[in-house]
Amino acid sequence: MDIKHNELIEKVRRLIEAVIFDLDGVIVSTDEYHYQAWQKLADDENIYFDRVINERLRGVGRMGCLEIILERATRDYTTEEKKELADRKNKYYRESLDKLSPADILPGVMEWLQTLKTKKIPAAIGSSSKNTGIILDRIELTDCFNVIISGNDVKKSKPDPEIFLLAAERLKVDPCRCLVVEDAVSGVEAGIAAGMKVLAVGYAREDKRAHMSAADLSKISFDELIQKEQKTKLKSNPD
Ligand code: G6P
Ligand code: MG
Repeated sequence: MDIKHNELIEKVRRLIEAVIFDLDGVIVSTDEYHYQAWQKLADDENIYFDRVINERLRGVGRMGCLEIILERATRDYTTEEKKELADRKNKYYRESLDKLSPADILPGVMEWLQTLKTKKIPAAIGSSSKNTGIILDRIELTDCFNVIISGNDVKKSKPDPEIFLLAAERLKVDPCRCLVVEDAVSGVEAGIAAGMKVLAVGYAREDKRAHMSAADLSKISFDELIQKEQKTKLKSNPD
């Protein structure tokens, strides 16, 4: 193995210097509670809503979600009414968070966090949710993240890259050395727009724009992901 090859291996070894996780649907199963709360609101208002429409809400901020739901409404809503609807949905959602516990952490998450800790690779949360703080407290993971960026810290929600770029800035890691883990099509788009590597899980795993995909985090370990990346890089730089 010559010096150039060794240098390349060293470069490849540092491919990922930080991991930014989405929260709902990646770390914890609160995506289902969002769905149930929106369904309840839509039923209250006699607006058609289903799980297919719900997929468009992943990663999108609360008011953005409401606008998607109101596409099926049979009348216009005033700004005040919209605010009341969003508050009511959040009330339903918060009620379901009362029963949230570490049992709701999704498969593979604890193993990933443990590996990152062992390797001293910082972990961050990049979520559009304004309920991020409460959720992390309830599942007892607040201390596992070096940086937490929520919907309270940004102006634009995904697919805008603002959340992930702010996370990278706070982590002091170049965006191109960050890995984003996402279950939302809007989140995959945001990660790509931020110039990051993207691992798509859950519903987003069919998204061809992601660099890698898996059904959930138990189906791919951090080490396997790095090995795959190294092989791809070494193949594209054979000398
Ligand atoms: C996450 C979820 C979205 C949700 C958004 C805002 O990104 O994937 O479905 O609408 O957060 O959540 P919030 O808890 O602030 O209403
Ligand atoms: Mg999500």
